[in-house]
Amino acid sequence: MWLLLLAFLLVTCKAKEPVYPESCEDLGLPDDLAYTQSSLALRELADAREMGVGAAVSALPLDCDPAYGDALGHEFNMLTTENALKFGPVHPEPERYDFDAADAIIGFAEAHAMQVRGHALVWHQMNPEWIDQADFTREEWGETLRAHITTVVGYYKGRVQVWDVVNEAMGDGAHDLRKTVWLEGVGPDYIDKAFAWAHAANPDALLFYNDYGAEGLNAKSDKVYELVKGMLDRGVPVHGVGLQMHLSIEDAPDSEDVRANMQRLGDLGLQVHITEMDVRLPNDPDPELDEKQAEVYRQMMAVCVDAPSCTAFVTWGFTDRHSWIPYFFPGEGEALLFDAAYQPKLTYVALQDALSPARIPRPEDYGAECDCEP
Ligand code: G3I
Repeated sequence: MWLLLLAFLLVTCKAKEPVYPESCEDLGLPDDLAYTQSSLALRELADAREMGVGAAVSALPLDCDPAYGDALGHEFNMLTTENALKFGPVHPEPERYDFDAADAIIGFAEAHAMQVRGHALVWHQMNPEWIDQADFTREEWGETLRAHITTVVGYYKGRVQVWDVVNEAMGDGAHDLRKTVWLEGVGPDYIDKAFAWAHAANPDALLFYNDYGAEGLNAKSDKVYELVKGMLDRGVPVHGVGLQMHLSIEDAPDSEDVRANMQRLGDLGLQVHITEMDVRLPNDPDPELDEKQAEVYRQMMAVCVDAPSCTAFVTWGFTDRHSWIPYFFPGEGEALLFDAAYQPKLTYVALQDALSPARIPRPEDYGAECDCEP
């Protein structure tokens, strides 16, 4: 009896493991999916403020789901390659690069006059086996990373305007750099080197350091601040910091802290992008939580709009139809701007509201000569 129960539980748990879609059929798209153009697209509002508004994009839905491309091209003036330019997908074997998926996404961006954020040249996840299992000398590690960065950034010179050069290098809490293959292989100066190699391959690209949990003021954001300040002091070509902003509804950072963090990074001469925002909810419908979620989006966009350093606001996906959340947080979802049927949600309206020209500007946006009383 107990054995039967155990077997049942094992089968049930197994069935809940994520199955990543690999074909159009796997996506199981209904026939009637359609996006209806909004009369006030986010990109129109962002263009008027000369800022970027974007979303992370995957090649599969772009290929299979026409509504995905319709909404993306109409609503956003920027996109990020979600997975296509990570080391594993783009450089699966030592002598082989595969640009197909990224080419499709970046071709779409060009056809729709969108800026591209390339993500991410150096990360500890989604590396190919030949990297994870490599037994290189320090010199070989450096040469491997230099060749990778030079090839990928060089290939997209003039087509990718912003790179997340190094992603999530900082340990959590007050810890120092995360122990990764790159830290251990290339050595403690791997971040400086990665930025220098990216800059050499495309001197026109904006180069960002990107991390999570460092949006407001805390031990980790202090470390990120020290990291980029040190890089600037050493003459390393870093131009911006990405604040990922993956949130659950309970753990949104204080908006005043985010404002202060953007301000101190801006004082260093750096740009800030909100790079991966989503706010996940438990799957049980709850109108109060929907409103709370929209308020978090509204506040973070308002902070970005108000901060002179914040030049782009990017969400990690844009429709609940295609999102990483259910794969990584079973029982949670609905983290984005459009629902799974491409209907705009309260979160979308909140971004329209925060981007609206009718928002009263704050004096500190305009310096001492401002006569724009709130
Ligand atoms: O496509 C393969 C498939 O061929 C294979 O059979 C299957 C089995 O594991 O994996 C599929 O790849 C998955 C990929 O997403 C594409 O769906 C990977 O396993 C899965 O790990 C990967 O997850 C991505 C995750 O990063 C890890 O790379 C998510 O889609 C992506 O949204 C997420 O993005 C990260 C940012 O890059 C950095 N910040 C955090 C953010 C969320 O975790």
